[in-house]
Amino acid sequence: MKQFRVDKSLCIQCGECAKDCVFGLITMEQGYPVLPADKEAVCIECQHCMAVCKPAALSILGLNPADSMSLAGQFPDPRQMETLIKGRRSIRRYLPTPLASETIDELLKITSHAPTGVNARGVEFIVVEDPGTMSAIRQETLAALQDLARRDAIPDNLCIMKAIVPLMEQGFDPVFRNAPHLLIASAANDVPCREADVFIALSYFELLAASAGIGTTWCGLGKWAMVDLAPQLLQSLGVPENHDVVYLMLFGKPDVEYYRTVQRDQDAHIRRLVK
Ligand SMILES: Cc1cc2nc3c(=O)[nH]c(=O)nc-3n(C[C@H](O)[C@H](O)[C@H](O)COP(=O)(O)O)c2cc1C
Repeated sequence: MKQFRVDKSLCIQCGECAKDCVFGLITMEQGYPVLPADKEAVCIECQHCMAVCKPAALSILGLNPADSMSLAGQFPDPRQMETLIKGRRSIRRYLPTPLASETIDELLKITSHAPTGVNARGVEFIVVEDPGTMSAIRQETLAALQDLARRDAIPDNLCIMKAIVPLMEQGFDPVFRNAPHLLIASAANDVPCREADVFIALSYFELLAASAGIGTTWCGLGKWAMVDLAPQLLQSLGVPENHDVVYLMLFGKPDVEYYRTVQRDQDAHIRRLVK
């Protein structure tokens, strides 16, 4: 039951909810919107009907529109977004101090608003919060890489991982960059757009974190090491068996400050199709 409710004393009969419904499920009956019972199964629960209703007359899924954030004039301006997008950096030097759990919770709750294919919202995060677990992951990853280095034949894509072993043995941490936290982002293997969903979620997380002075690194080396070489480690950390781990991200307080953007505009690959 989608609990589609319209407060007729507030509804201005504008039909915006019907026009904005992704599958056109909402019909106007005697001037008021209705979600017919036989269409409910197709509703993907995107809540556009509630979000687009100016007088807050419409509720779905038992939600109160008054509990939504109000939007008028609240978006950051394009210049602020530009600064954020151009000014965020991959952080490779971190302070050891962990972030407060509440801060991490807040970042992830906001991140869960990122779009997902067919609104599946199936992205799951395992957050490594404590230094002890982080250090165990480093040790076990090094052990997996040392096993790899002993093999006679190594797939081309993993040669770089072998080269990392001596660095790690000397105490350098090219994989986890001494970050205090790791995000393991996965989704069940029946989530239709799981790869895109995770990449979008992590991209949003990265920008949100940067705006809060928190650094992140896409942890491609860790993903190769853990997903390809040490899947048992991921399972021991609680990744369900039916989940695909799509990507990992390091984060924490940066131990580095940047004073200007890099310059990449000349690299934008744009082909305009204009007659
Ligand atoms: C999918 C992906 C995987 C990455 N993996 C790593 C990684 O394992 N280690 C690392 O230090 N940086 C990694 N990076 C960061 C890139 O090297 C970085 O984005 C690029 O050099 C540009 O620098 P910037 O992010 O500061 O603009 C990765 C980035 C992406 C998008």
